[in-house]
Amino acid sequence: MKHFLSVNEVSNLPQLVENALAYKDNPFKDAALGHNKRLGMLFLNPSMRTRISTQIAAKNLGMDAIVFNVGQDGWTLEFEDEAIMSGTTVEHVKEAAPVLGKYFDILGVRTFPSLKNKEDDYSELYINQFIKYAGVPLLSLESATLHPLQSLTDIITIKEAFKEKRKPKIVLTWAPHVKALPQCVANSFSQWLNAWGGADFVITHPEDYELDSKFTKGATITHDQDAALKDADFVYIKNWSTYTDYGKIYCNDPEWMLTNEKLATTNNAKVMHCLPVRRNVELSDEILDGTSSIVTQQAGNRVWAAQAVLAELLKSSKQ
Ligand code: CP
Repeated sequence: MKHFLSVNEVSNLPQLVENALAYKDNPFKDAALGHNKRLGMLFLNPSMRTRISTQIAAKNLGMDAIVFNVGQDGWTLEFEDEAIMSGTTVEHVKEAAPVLGKYFDILGVRTFPSLKNKEDDYSELYINQFIKYAGVPLLSLESATLHPLQSLTDIITIKEAFKEKRKPKIVLTWAPHVKALPQCVANSFSQWLNAWGGADFVITHPEDYELDSKFTKGATITHDQDAALKDADFVYIKNWSTYTDYGKIYCNDPEWMLTNEKLATTNNAKVMHCLPVRRNVELSDEILDGTSSIVTQQAGNRVWAAQAVLAELLKSSKQ
């Protein structure tokens, strides 16, 4: 694995999930693997879980991790080719990335989409510029369109929670929100579940919230949330803004928020969310405070996903 940007870099997904669960059982079994190696973690946008879990994962592997908040601690970066930098940006990625490549063995980057320019966002302009100029393995800490460490975590959590021999029914349902949010988590969850193939996968959302079919093909898609939820083993809650008429909020119907009443037709479904979550907007108190929610177990598993991926990047760089 040279870089980690999506499920496409993973040659054996079931094995990666097993590796992550093995780290959960024995976090320090590869404590020498990252000895004298340094992970840089660049945040162009806020984070709690990704930042801390990846730092812990690096430490478990014997690596040093240095966090750098680009917007607050450093110079504002420019990404456009041939930009005339007479505005607010101070340093071009063409200088910043190769400098960071000299400091770090692996570079992690978090960038959010603009939600204004679909072409730029879906070309992954920012993360690809870092890949082009840094010259070291790139670890996505969430990009404009995907959140691969989250999705690996989600599959680990499902694998851990579901012990039956049959395939689980997993429903990804859109939920209301006060802001226009990226499609990353929903795109990425769809992409990983389809690649995993270990589930009966249903996506439900109001009209106009269709995701890019590149990620969802293979899933059943319906606008009928009640029908989708029937017999579900897992319900994954997430808001996203519109993809086709890009970055908009159309319907924001509060009826789409999951409640215990809606969960009644499921197969005692476990409820998942990547967090942070807006209580009583995206998800009701009764669910988050009840026994069906596994959101904190899920967030805890971020460490093992990050550790399994960092281990793969370290092993590949030694070959
Ligand atoms: N789920 C997730 O990525 O959380 P943070 O934004 O806090 O990192």
